[in-house]
Amino acid sequence: MSTKVGILDSTLREGEQTPGVLFNQNQRVEIAKLLSDAHVAMIEAGHPLVSKDIYSAIKEIMELKASGIIKPEIIAHSRAVHSDIDSAAGLNVDRIAIFYGVSDIHLDYKTHKSRTQALDIIYDSISYAVSTGIPVRFTAEDASRTDINFLRNVVNTAVEAGADRISIADTLGILTPEKTRYIFNNLMDIKNVEYDFHGHNDMGMALANSLAAAESGASIIHTTVNGLGERVGITPLQVFAVLLEYHFGIDAADLMMLKPLSELVETYSKITLSPNFPVTGRNAFTHKSGVHVDGIINNAGTYEFMDPSRLGMQHGFTIDKYSGRHALRQKLTGMGMDIDENKISGILEKIKSNNMVYSEEELKEMTNSNDQ
Ligand code: COA
Ligand code: ZN
Repeated sequence: MSTKVGILDSTLREGEQTPGVLFNQNQRVEIAKLLSDAHVAMIEAGHPLVSKDIYSAIKEIMELKASGIIKPEIIAHSRAVHSDIDSAAGLNVDRIAIFYGVSDIHLDYKTHKSRTQALDIIYDSISYAVSTGIPVRFTAEDASRTDINFLRNVVNTAVEAGADRISIADTLGILTPEKTRYIFNNLMDIKNVEYDFHGHNDMGMALANSLAAAESGASIIHTTVNGLGERVGITPLQVFAVLLEYHFGIDAADLMMLKPLSELVETYSKITLSPNFPVTGRNAFTHKSGVHVDGIINNAGTYEFMDPSRLGMQHGFTIDKYSGRHALRQKLTGMGMDIDENKISGILEKIKSNNMVYSEEELKEMTNSNDQ
């Protein structure tokens, strides 16, 4: 694993492609500031030609970059057309990312171009963008369904035209880790270029594929906060950052910023995180079964892969029919109640006879009535 591996967060571009999600300018700037505080390497700030408010937000983000408030590299998205490139270049962003669908199905049915014509368009648009003096990334859209020999031609053409980064996009989320490795192993000999990986999550493989890409030489992995994006989204920032830290000790994002980012994007996207979402979901460090809670009380490491305080979070446990004596005693003691050991069994028996989760209020009431 290259220790250089970093994160490009695309919440502002890919994330806003989530059905139902629209950010306003202030929200975009606020998300960019928090991503900067989390010290991700790059922020894909949007496709400026799409709308005036996206253009203005990127302009404001670039002003904050100039004044040192925002630090990551700021990227603008662009089709392989001069008008898109002009709009991105006018903002003087740090990098223009030009995308073009390179699989046969995209060429045949979307852009209606032959492979040869596509190579010409890729060469022309990249050299045009490079002539503005701004560094260029080329995204091979639908790369994962592209004939590997043609994909090599695409990469060689893009590099000849002056792109110094290529993003390999698994646009439909059809890869497996093994297939991801195969693609990178077939590209890594091409000189003077570094790779991004952009993994969609259509079959739940985005994280595993992103890890495989990083292990195979990709130096930038694309994420969005809470995994937002077209259809079911892409690799979630919070989970990928923790994976990199846990397995490789790579500090690609400040772990303490993951929960605030997750909450901010939940609010602005109006998409509530499911409780069982890894790392920042409500249940990520909440335990239930008696045996687990007993372990947690003795040593939290028995059932927690990381101390939640490293993420600015706390662990907890629920009380219901799955609870045991140790959990109940711990809960009541934590609530400041000094319960006779003999009474614990009686209260537990009641808890087990009801199919409900007990709140602290309900536990207090039950304990007091049991006392009488
Ligand atoms: N490079 C160049 N042309 C591309 C392209 C690419 N990467 N991808 C698609 N196109 C072409 C299509 O072939 C089609 O061309 P046509 O008008 O000659 O048929 C056109 O771009 C896309 O169709 P449509 O979106 O209906 O065109 P439009 O001109 O009305 O709008 C956008 C273009 C980009 C302004 C509009 O689609 C938009 O706001 N999109 C949001 C951003 C987006 O789609 N991002 C995808 C990221 S993967
Ligand atoms: Zn995407």
